[in-house]
This record gives sequence, structure tokens and C-alpha cells, in this order.
Amino acid sequence: MSRFSTSFILVVLLVQNQILENLINLPVAALFMRGYSDVLIGLQYGDEGKGKIVALLAKSYDLIVRFNGGGNAGHTHYFGGSRIALHQIPSGIFEPNVGSYIASGCVVNFERLLAEIVDVQQFVDITDRFFIASQATVVQPHHVLFDKITGNDIGTTGNGIGPAYADRALRKIGGRLKNVQVHYVLSNAENVKEIFVDNYNYVLEKFVDMSDEKHAKIVDSLGDVRQQVERLVSSAHELKKYVCTDQLWLEGLVRGGKKVLFEGAQAAGLDVVTGNVPYVTSSHTNAGAAYAEGDLPPKYHRKTFGVAKAIETRVGAGPFVSEFGRLASEIYCTKDNGRAHSAEFERFHYNADELLNSRDHFEIGVALRMIGGEYGATTGRPRRTGMLDLVQLRHACRYNGVDELYLNKVDSLADFSRTKLSGVPLVVAYDLDGKILDYVPPSTEDLGMINPVIEYASHISPIAAKERGGLSSEVIQLIARIEQEVGCAVAGIGVGPCREQVIFYH
Ligand code: IMP
Repeated sequence: MSRFSTSFILVVLLVQNQILENLINLPVAALFMRGYSDVLIGLQYGDEGKGKIVALLAKSYDLIVRFNGGGNAGHTHYFGGSRIALHQIPSGIFEPNVGSYIASGCVVNFERLLAEIVDVQQFVDITDRFFIASQATVVQPHHVLFDKITGNDIGTTGNGIGPAYADRALRKIGGRLKNVQVHYVLSNAENVKEIFVDNYNYVLEKFVDMSDEKHAKIVDSLGDVRQQVERLVSSAHELKKYVCTDQLWLEGLVRGGKKVLFEGAQAAGLDVVTGNVPYVTSSHTNAGAAYAEGDLPPKYHRKTFGVAKAIETRVGAGPFVSEFGRLASEIYCTKDNGRAHSAEFERFHYNADELLNSRDHFEIGVALRMIGGEYGATTGRPRRTGMLDLVQLRHACRYNGVDELYLNKVDSLADFSRTKLSGVPLVVAYDLDGKILDYVPPSTEDLGMINPVIEYASHISPIAAKERGGLSSEVIQLIARIEQEVGCAVAGIGVGPCREQVIFYH
């Protein structure tokens, strides 16, 4: 067949592929599309090192897209010798030719976003490659106030994320506009200020007790509402140049051949519906949510990456089956919403090496937190530490259809050889009242009563290798066991905080 006739047939097929799809109900378009989207999510309770993996993969994509959450996320980056925590900006921003987009499903704190951009601009130029969806929800001053007043029960990050999503669902109530989207602030500058002040005063009146010292302190720390509102609106106008008003913009790019990576915030265990309710965040964190909240239809999906951590952590309250020291650890880490036992407190009071040389799980947990620097990137709270829970990991991989797994902090497993434990502890099953489960039960109460069934893999020695060939047989065996238990291929293992310290595995 001549080159002309081959091209002609291709063109005809391309033009007709939508018709063909409709007729024979097959994704014929997939054969011809050049663009696609992948999704990357956390599989445990957040802080798995997603930002590092996104930064590592970013250069294979044209655009990195956040689809959920807001300033409650904290992705730590090591760039040019500096440590930078990103909260709202996607983690691909340090890759100079890759775009970043905050999609409609996110909630945006303008003032803090502007500050983050100023920080990032010291390292890289983001002109013409940073975008914010005009339909993203605005975090208003009263959201932060309400979260700080009421968020202690579950230990929120206090950034107003839950109240902002709640108002997104409330829309307008009692004549008050509750959900304000980005475009509304830009086109109703004066009117919107009155809405913000009114919403703030409503919360102040109904939920704040100024005779309560804690409440008064919170109100005081936030400052005058009119000043907060002025800062919000002026930050919004400074960011106007980044706002994208075309709902079909992302779809158009991918249709035209661009490659997108969705960067999930928080993690599967914190999903507002399928996580350990009510100890969850307020957005959808599972992989499918990228296509409900990320401004792209699912027909472009290619594959799903999951990120987990070999020593697990959780911040805030809620069940954590593999936690070292279980209830004692939860109470200790959540005291005064995490403020009681900060990094400084622990450094002053404990010696990590001494605690590690122990059989006591609570003490091992404190030591691992200190050695691993496991304190919240957003809040500085101590993270509760736990063993790698293979039941939870398998469940999250299956529920989210994970194709490739990245396992961070594998180097930290060598710390167990300094304890009195007989090997690297792995949770392999759940015991609920004598019944052995190989899945995560949906009831948070049941989860709280589960006893983990622990098995010990051989100890590993500290990892100096830079590639797979240099790994010891104990590490190789351990990863093989994890793959087998979880039913998912490990694509890479993290052996240090920098993106250069990920060893590609397959
Ligand atoms: P919120 O998302 O601030 O409402 O907090 C709800 C729960 O999610 C709390 O237990 C937080 O500690 C947790 N959470 C929210 N964002 C993150 C994160 O980025 N990493 C880990 N935990 C998070």
C-alpha cells in the first residue's frame, strides 16, 4: 500500500473514531491518541513521599495537575541544597519545562499561595507554566477560623479545608453565598468582601466563645477580619494572570497530545468516603477522583502509580493498626493537637539511639520518628509511626487499581537491626475477635479493635547502593515478599530523602 493511502485511511479513522466508538463501544480513540494521563496517589495516611516521586517522574510529562485538597498537603522538596515545603503548588514545579495546574476540585488559599509562589520563584521561573482553575473553591477567612475552633476532634491541619469543602456542598444558604469560586473573587471584588466578612461574623457569633481562652487566642491570632479579607482579595488579583477560565483547556491539551500526571494529595486511608471516617480529610483522595475533580475525562487514563512508605506514619487521630505503641502512641502524639510533643520536645527529652535499643513498641516508635524526622511538613506535629501494613497496602492497591508501586524509606528498615526485634516487622493479617481478615474492614470501630498479625523478615543492613544491582539479597527478598503479598509490582524504592535516591526496580 502506498504511503498516501495509508495516511488517508488513518485520517478517515481518526475523524470517525468517535462514531466508531459509539457504534462498537470500543475505545478506538485510544489507539490513535498521543496524549494521556496517569494518576499518582498515596496509599496509606499521607506523607508517603509522593512529592519526591512526582518530582522524579515530572520530566516525562507536560503538566502536573493537583485535583484535591489545598494547603493541608505538605510535599517536601530538596532543591539546590534548600528544603522547600510545597502545599498548594504541584510538585513538578521545579522542572523548568513542565507546567503545573491547580484544578477545579482543589480549594485555594490565595494569600498563602502567593507566598508559596514568591518562595518558588527564587529557584525557578513559573511564568507561562502555572495555572489555576477558575472554578476552584476559595478558602475564606471563616473556613480557617471554623477549622481551628472545631478541628481538634479529628486533628485537622487547621487550614480551613474541611469547612471550605462543606461550604462547596452548601452552596448558598439563608441568602448567604457559601461557596465562592476563584472567578467570583476576581469579578466581584467589592461585593465579595462583604460576603467574606458576613460569613466570618456568622461563625464568630454562632461557634466562637470569646470567654474560652483557647477560642480568644485563635481569634486574636487571625487578626482583624477586614484586614484578612483585604489581603485575600489583593492576593487574588495578583494571581489573576494564572487563572484559567476555559473548562476545556486541559482536555484540549491532552486531546492534542500532551501528557498529564495527576498528583494526589493526602492518601487512600484519608478519603472522605472510603477512609477511616470520620478521621479523614474532606476531599476524595482515591485515584478515580482525578477524573471527577481534575478537569479531564477518564478516557485519557493510562496508568496508576501508588506511593507507600516502608515505615508508616499517620498524623491526627484515627485508627492505625500497625502503630508502634497503639493507643499510648495515639494519645501521646495527638495531645494538644500535636503541639505537646514537638520535635524540640523530643530532642530535649529523649535519646533516640537508647530508645531504639528496646523491645517496647512505643519507645521504638518514638525513636523511629526522631531518626526519620517524622514531623508534619504543614503543622510540625509528631507523626505516629508504625510497621508496614501489607493488608492495608494490598487493599489500597486493589481498590485503586495500582499498576506500579513506589516504596519509600526502605533504607529506614535497617534501623530495626538496632532494636531487639527479631527482624523487620510486617503486618500480614488482621485479627478481629479471633477472626483472621486479609482485607481492611469498612468500620472504623472494627479497625480500632484489630490486633495485627506480625511476621518478621530478615534484618537488612544499611543501604549504600545506588541501583538495583547493588542491593543485598535481604533487600531483594524483602521486596519480592512485599510484591507477592500486595499483588503489585514495585517500580522503585526510596533509600533517602532526595529524588536521586530512588532506585528504579523493574
Ligand atoms: P484536614 O485535611 O486538614 O481537614 O485534616 C483531616 C485529617 O487529614 C487529619 O488527620 C490530618 O492530619 C490529615 N491530613 C490532611 N492532610 C494531610 C497530609 O498532607 N498528610 C498527612 N495527613 C494529612
